[in-house]
Amino acid sequence: MLFEHAGAHSLNHIILGAIFEDYGIDAVKVKKMAQHQSRRSGSDDRYLRSLRHVSTSIYGFAFSAILIAIQMTRCLLLALFTAALLSAQTPGAFMPWVYFPQNCAKCHGSPDVPRAPSQSSLRALTPEAIYAAITTGSMSGQSAGLSDENKRSLAEYIAERRLGIAAMGDVKKMSNLCESKPKFDDLSRQAWNGYGLDAENTRYQTTAGGGIARSEIPKLKLKWAFGFPGVSQVWGQPSVVSGTVFIGVDTGYVYAIDAKTGCVHWSFLADTGVRTAPRIDVLPNKRAVAWFGDLKANAYAVDASTGALIWKTNLDPHVRARITAAPAYFENRLYFPVSSTEEVSPPPPLYLCCTFRGSVAALDAESGRKVWQTYTIAEAPHPAPKDAKNLQPWGPAGGAVWGAPVIDRRKRTLYIATGDAYTEPAPATTDAVMALDLKSGKVLWSMQDLPNDAWIVGCPSPDNANCPKQMGPDFDFGAATILANLPGGKRVLLAGQKSGIIWAHDPDARGVLLWKTGVSRSKADPRGEIVWGGAADTTNVYYGLTSGGVVAVRVTDGTKVWLTPINGSGKLPGTPGAVTAIPGAVFSGGLDGVIRALSPEDGSVVWEYDTARASPTVNGIPGKGGSLGAPGPVIAGGMLFVNSGYVGVVSGMPGNLLLAFAPE
Ligand code: HEC
Repeated sequence: MLFEHAGAHSLNHIILGAIFEDYGIDAVKVKKMAQHQSRRSGSDDRYLRSLRHVSTSIYGFAFSAILIAIQMTRCLLLALFTAALLSAQTPGAFMPWVYFPQNCAKCHGSPDVPRAPSQSSLRALTPEAIYAAITTGSMSGQSAGLSDENKRSLAEYIAERRLGIAAMGDVKKMSNLCESKPKFDDLSRQAWNGYGLDAENTRYQTTAGGGIARSEIPKLKLKWAFGFPGVSQVWGQPSVVSGTVFIGVDTGYVYAIDAKTGCVHWSFLADTGVRTAPRIDVLPNKRAVAWFGDLKANAYAVDASTGALIWKTNLDPHVRARITAAPAYFENRLYFPVSSTEEVSPPPPLYLCCTFRGSVAALDAESGRKVWQTYTIAEAPHPAPKDAKNLQPWGPAGGAVWGAPVIDRRKRTLYIATGDAYTEPAPATTDAVMALDLKSGKVLWSMQDLPNDAWIVGCPSPDNANCPKQMGPDFDFGAATILANLPGGKRVLLAGQKSGIIWAHDPDARGVLLWKTGVSRSKADPRGEIVWGGAADTTNVYYGLTSGGVVAVRVTDGTKVWLTPINGSGKLPGTPGAVTAIPGAVFSGGLDGVIRALSPEDGSVVWEYDTARASPTVNGIPGKGGSLGAPGPVIAGGMLFVNSGYVGVVSGMPGNLLLAFAPE
């Protein structure tokens, strides 16, 4: 998902974007510095090396691996890389992702040293604890040759969080603490709770819930802006419940903010970045709880009034596992999908692919206890035939679940759409739409829309045993599925694919295909045409397109109703973010930073606002908007909420704002 086999240039952007997205890195700063250095040397390979050097020395995160992968697509031999890698082991070009497997993994991860915790156990520690262990603690001898700067980047790489972020992001640093605690009396009134608004993921808000009439749309004005401290980008969609906005950011902080004024109630620091929309509900014991997941595959429950941790459950110990999808809540259970970054692993011998399988876990909402966990690929990974160099790859792997599940209350069934395979043969449940029994997690049916899509970044390459021999196009399902009602009581399960094809399956006939419609404006686009999610009203489904534009397709038969190209107001083109519909408008955010409202009837633009600029903030943190990407706009209680500053896989403009609009 999110990475495509492409020319080196676009791949640079995609891969960098992916890594920046993961680690909240200031992409623009890194790229500028690297360009400056390469201009001085005039060489392209030098550019990549500078990029690696600059980015690592600034941030010390694990994305150098990816830059190596870029070089692989440029047909450099593995030997060359290894040489380059080793020669790059100068203090300034320290690469923790190489250093760890070469120096630490001989104990950490080795069956010969069972006392040494695995990398995934070390991953659970804070960067501060790891830094202490390798500077003054029991591991100081193991990293004796490293400078303090390199020890810091090693600790940040292992923990996937920046040192010092805890103090920087805390609400205690803010000037606008609310005077009273939030109340959770009526959760369903004028709310947008979780990713898709409702159990069906329609992202279609009624006038009663949204509180913005058709005639008021052109009168939307900025009411307040909230600045997130220490973040490079904002990527989590907010949830709005009982007048409180909940939102997670890339530093690992989750904030609860008053919807009307922007005063802040509390902050909670997760182990690493939080990009899922939080889900809020009141338990039978009357306690209001907010649930969300982080990029180390931890699920959290915190008290919605105070932000105090209630429980934390790890859903997958795999070192590359993560949660990107918002959980669904139904009858005292939570349903959390799990995805991963294993397909962007470095080549052997640094990493032997692949052992991750996508899954959905059902948790008891009160205790966090796992009730069931179903893998999208039934067969557990096992050793595959050894490669020419006697290295041991694994499989089957893949089938990550990136998007929020649909809950079918009528059939007591959960629907997901899955990502590509990392190994071949691609399992039949990759790039598929699947139905799971809510109670047991049993797979009821699965319909594969694209077979043979095994894909790994940096492939094909003759020297990389991780590479599938027949590369697929990496056309995952990233966007969540939507369960739409048709006139006459029939229903349709919609899945938008990175290929730009919208697939309509029949949820009441074991997923049989009803129709499919291709809406791609540029087939060659390596980033995926439909990536983040659509909205369905009573007649149409709407999707934003990475190539720039919004499309409306009739839900009954897949007829294209309109397509409005959006070229990005002279700045960055592209509107890949999830869209949101209300009676009278479809809202779509652009990588140019502009939020637009389009007429659902003909796609004409009826309102727009440019968020890509500096803005005063209510909480005293310097604020600047950037691109609008993955998370969709949210409408509830007479207000529109938009977060601005998405870098992602599309090299968007960074930013740190949550903006609140209301009609004037
Ligand atoms: C020779 C084997 C060996 C090597 C090499 C090694 N470790 Fe360890 N490490 C251990 C063992 C064993 C433990 C368990 C705790 C203990 O016995 O001190 C441990 C514990 C740790 C801990 C947890 C410490 C704590 O306080 O909980 C961290 C963090 C750590 N190692 C990091 C590293 C890093 C980073 C490297 C590479 C620079 C590394 N280790 C190299 C064997 C090793």
